[in-house]
Amino acid sequence: MSFHIGAKKGEIAEIMLLPGDPLRAKFIAERFLEDISCYSTVRNMLGFTGTYNGTRISIQGAGMGIPSTAIYASELINEFGVKTMIRIGTCGSIRADIKLGEVILAMSASTDSSVNKLYFGGMDYAPAASFELLDKANQKANDLSIHTLVGGIFSTDTFYDDMPDRYKIWGDHGVLGVEMESTILYTLAARNNVRALSILTVSDNLVTGEVASAEDREKKIEDMAKIALEVTV
Ligand code: HPA
Repeated sequence: MSFHIGAKKGEIAEIMLLPGDPLRAKFIAERFLEDISCYSTVRNMLGFTGTYNGTRISIQGAGMGIPSTAIYASELINEFGVKTMIRIGTCGSIRADIKLGEVILAMSASTDSSVNKLYFGGMDYAPAASFELLDKANQKANDLSIHTLVGGIFSTDTFYDDMPDRYKIWGDHGVLGVEMESTILYTLAARNNVRALSILTVSDNLVTGEVASAEDREKKIEDMAKIALEVTV
């Protein structure tokens, strides 16, 4: 029995795409998968299973932020046997030279959240992507002629704050962007010996103040979904 996912055993595939927005899960399932069925509508956090080139794949909305991501990832791994989790989402650029629309493959996910410290008795853990998924995503993006940046990102617990320079030190240490989920996805994957990767599109630039249009974001979701789906086959 799962608290937050209303699926029966066997309705969820071992390979999972995890957008934050449940309507993106629906959009990607309808656009790219065949024989789709919706296995959960609990809290409107929709989940779908279908096939891509014959491979069984599920797509689950996971919400925003570390706690929501942790709930869905934990239940998917522990209750439904998910083995591969690929987040597809957006991030803010924290450097003027990283432009809107860039696709980032998140190699590591630093954080200001205390969630990892809670798991590690106050010590710092360095959550990292599955190298196998990262490497394959990089190759598949090249094959699809989708430009990517590969590097560390930062998962924050606060979308709104009044500290304009708070990300400077992260940018100065090579971190590419900020989002709110990947650090826990990577930690939970490691803890449960499964694979995880986050593929992110830059939707806003915190240095220049630019924000991508809804249209541009939609197009990039398709690019990220294509990379993620090709990684799985
Ligand atoms: N901050 C945090 N998370 C985000 C952002 C941001 O600017 N953009 C997309 N996800």
